[in-house]
Order: sequence, then C-alpha cells, then structure tokens
Amino acid sequence: MKERAKVAVLISGRGSNMAALVYAAKADDCPYEIILVASNDPAAPGLQLAEAEGIDTFAHPHKGLNRAELDQIMHEAVTKTGAEYIALAGYMRILSDEFVSKWQDHMLNIHPSLLPKYKGLNTYQRALDSGDTQAGCSVHLVTPELDDGPVLAQTAVAILSDDTADLLAERVLIAEHQLYSTTLAKYVTREMDPNWILAEVRKRALALEETYERPSFGAPGWRVGSEKTGKYFAYFSHRHFGETGTSLFVKTSGLDEQSALLDADPDLYFAPKFYGKSGWIAIRLDTGRTDWGHIADCLKKSWRMVAPRRLTRMLDIADEF
Ligand code: GRF
Repeated sequence: MKERAKVAVLISGRGSNMAALVYAAKADDCPYEIILVASNDPAAPGLQLAEAEGIDTFAHPHKGLNRAELDQIMHEAVTKTGAEYIALAGYMRILSDEFVSKWQDHMLNIHPSLLPKYKGLNTYQRALDSGDTQAGCSVHLVTPELDDGPVLAQTAVAILSDDTADLLAERVLIAEHQLYSTTLAKYVTREMDPNWILAEVRKRALALEETYERPSFGAPGWRVGSEKTGKYFAYFSHRHFGETGTSLFVKTSGLDEQSALLDADPDLYFAPKFYGKSGWIAIRLDTGRTDWGHIADCLKKSWRMVAPRRLTRMLDIADEF
C-alpha cells in the first residue's frame, strides 16, 4: 500500500470526531494516519485522549492573539510534523484567509447540518424550528467563507416528532463519526480514483483549442479539428486496449522519442500494446504522484502534432524566434 496520508486534527473541545478519525485509522487498510492533534485550548479533553493513543499533541491558547497570529502558530506546529492534510473537528476559531489558502484543497471540516442549510451555530434548533423532516451532517473542503466550501459528502438524519436539539445532536453525532473517516479516507485517495483522474485529464484536454471528446473502443479520447473529422491526440485508458491500470496515451514525434522516454523514466512511461507501434506513449496516472503540469504539457505537445495548421501556425512562428 502507498504510504498513508498524514493528517493533523484541530480541535477545541470534546474531540469525539477526532477520536472517530483516530480509531478508524487503526484499521490496516486505512489510507490516512493521524499524526498530530492540536488545539487552541490546552484544557480540551480531546488532547488527553490523543495523548493516551500515543499521538503527538500541541496546544496554544488563543487568548491575547489575533487571528493571524494564532493561525501562524498552528500552521507551524502542523507543518513541522509533515502533515499533508488538516481535519478540523470542532475547531472553534474562525480562520484567516491566509491560513485557508495555505491549506487549499488540503483542509476538511465537519459541520452538523445538511449544508448549504444552517451554516454557523445552533444548527439543530434551527432545523427543528424550520419544521425540517431531516437534519444531518456534511464534510466539506474549507474555503475562506465560513462553512461554505465544496461539500464532499453528507449523511441525512431523520428528525423525530418528539426531538429536542440535544437528542437530535446525539444522533447526528453518530452519523458524523461514520461520515468523517470514510470521507477523509476517500479524499486522500482521490488521486487513485479513475473517475477523479479522468476528470482531471478531461479538464486539460478540453482546455486546448477546438478539442472534442469522443470515445474510442469504449475508452475516452480527445480529438482536435472539427467534431466529425478531428484527429485523436489522447486516449484515457482505465483497463482499456488490453492494458491494466490507468494511463494516458499521447503521441510522440516517433519511435526515437518514444524509446528515449521509456529509457528516461520506465516507472512512468510504457509503450501501449496497440498504439505503441505507431509511436504513442502511455503515461501512468495511478502512481498517486501525478505531475499534472507535465500531463498538460504532454497533451499540448500531442495536440500540436495533429492539430490543423491554422491552429498551430502562430506557435510555429513563435518557435522560430
Ligand atoms: C461536532 O458537532 C462538529 O460537527 C462541529 O463541532 C462538534 C464537535 O464535536 N463542527 P467533537 O468535539 O468532535 O465531539
């Protein structure tokens, strides 16, 4: 298995969600590990629990510090451990935009409502007061706006006729404990998920001029030119064309370049079975370490080899200077 993703959890209190993440991480096949639990409150009960589980802890009281100062202290404590992700779990401080942008796409939060409903506090009472039949919880990516980032997953929890905010909170909490660890596990392995990989390739292929997606023998492929007569410059293979794994086929300038690439990085490149003969190269996309800038360059180079001259002329002219 690939090395586990390193996660720091930020808490302010009880830390039951943190505990749920810690216990789930004890499973052999859990793709993340909790390497730090940090708090803005040295008395947070969750810290004691984390310590007892042998996890490093860090606490720094927020009193007397402004938002940016506290965030900087937390950021340093977290980065020192080598954490790649932050999971907020009942962390009751509003974060500075700067801190959020440093952890963009690498910081998750759990919120006890079905977002976008009921951002902020008192979510249970607000759901009851509105006469909702369902409450729930959401795990979302953190963006500068409070409780506003893209929702990764939600669990709905039925509201009972004699519910109180406390009773509802108890049941939502059970759902939270399930949802957070499964969502975090899925998120940290997203780069291995063929659907996620395909979406990333598609974004870059279709960003090139006059490109269209058109399947070829069941595999997604991209052509340049007109929709009917365009030429393929890329194929996405997830167990297609007699291959295993997930890869991208692009054109090279010919067999010489193909063999140079194979020599240069045999872990990354291979010659695809049917297309290899005509100089196509396959790039592995399931290593978990894809350099997406490189993929965009390869797509562009391949596109340029088959694109109509009216599209490439300006690039050719620029090259001559
Ligand atoms: C949870 O309800 C969570 O959704 C919210 O804060 C509460 C934290 O509880 N963000 P705990 O500290 O994880 O027990």
